[in-house]
Amino acid sequence: MSPEEMLKSFPKQLEWEKLDIDRSLYHTITFCGMGGSGIVGDIARSWLEHKGCKVITSSHRGYGLPNYISGEEHLVVCISYSGNTEETLSNFAEAQKRGASIISISSGGKLEELSEKSGVLHLKVPKGFAPRYALGYMLSKVLAVLGIEKEELEDARENIEKNYEEIKKKGEEIAEKLYGYIPIIYATPLTEVAAFRWKTQINENSKTQAYFATLPEMHHNEVVGLDNAEIRSKCAFVVMFDPKDHDRVRRRVDLTIRLLKDLGIVPIAIGGDGNSYLARLLHLIHVGDWASYYLAGKYGFEPLPVKVIDWIKSELSKG
Ligand code: PA5
Repeated sequence: MSPEEMLKSFPKQLEWEKLDIDRSLYHTITFCGMGGSGIVGDIARSWLEHKGCKVITSSHRGYGLPNYISGEEHLVVCISYSGNTEETLSNFAEAQKRGASIISISSGGKLEELSEKSGVLHLKVPKGFAPRYALGYMLSKVLAVLGIEKEELEDARENIEKNYEEIKKKGEEIAEKLYGYIPIIYATPLTEVAAFRWKTQINENSKTQAYFATLPEMHHNEVVGLDNAEIRSKCAFVVMFDPKDHDRVRRRVDLTIRLLKDLGIVPIAIGGDGNSYLARLLHLIHVGDWASYYLAGKYGFEPLPVKVIDWIKSELSKG
């Protein structure tokens, strides 16, 4: 399948399913995964937080598990598209050792094998995609674990479907503006996960460095870096926001745009469109996915291969 076909399948990947899971059993939920699989947990956490969910959640990237996880009242969700990522397998083994509750998500690999062997609930997603292009499949599984309402997921899917041509066009226009510059993405707490996805998609698809920073924290450090005219002239700036951002954050978004404009920079100011937070977030994420795809083309790169990631994984597999 071509990267374009994989990208186009995103809305179809957002499929609702009902899982019989008693979520009231869990005091904490920890999402484990790396790269294109790791961001799934971040999106789910942002969504839960926006819903006002009181369960403590965290994203864990790396080996082992945080110390607080011990016992079945802690749910560990291990997500690895390939099912073979060593950090995620380490999380799985550690969760078993600590007697935590586990749910795993993969398209196969060792994670599926180990889950089946030990009676862990394994949710399988289709094979044949690059991990980051299977975001919709993995996210739908995680949202099913968290009990999302059918209407909410379907609305988010339809929102992308009905705006598809406009999303692609926007992505292409953004790629045009980012081309030749280091993308710097400024986000709000509600759009931080989208900014992170844009950064990582630009890294992996467009083979380009990109960075992001979030308000209000960036008003206490990052903004000072804008004083350096030599460096800022090498960057293209994106400012992301959501209509439900905290009032003071919105004020800070306006100040950031003003600051940039006063320096002669016209930032790409962008928010997702949609009725719900999830719909807007996925809309914004998908614009970035297309921007990274078109940017790859402008630099003459194939979006799919990530040779250096494959090389590191193969070296590490030697022991
Ligand atoms: O998109 C990619 O290819 C990477 O970011 C992978 O997702 C990452 O290396 C982890 O692999 P996996 O998703 O198979 O666990």
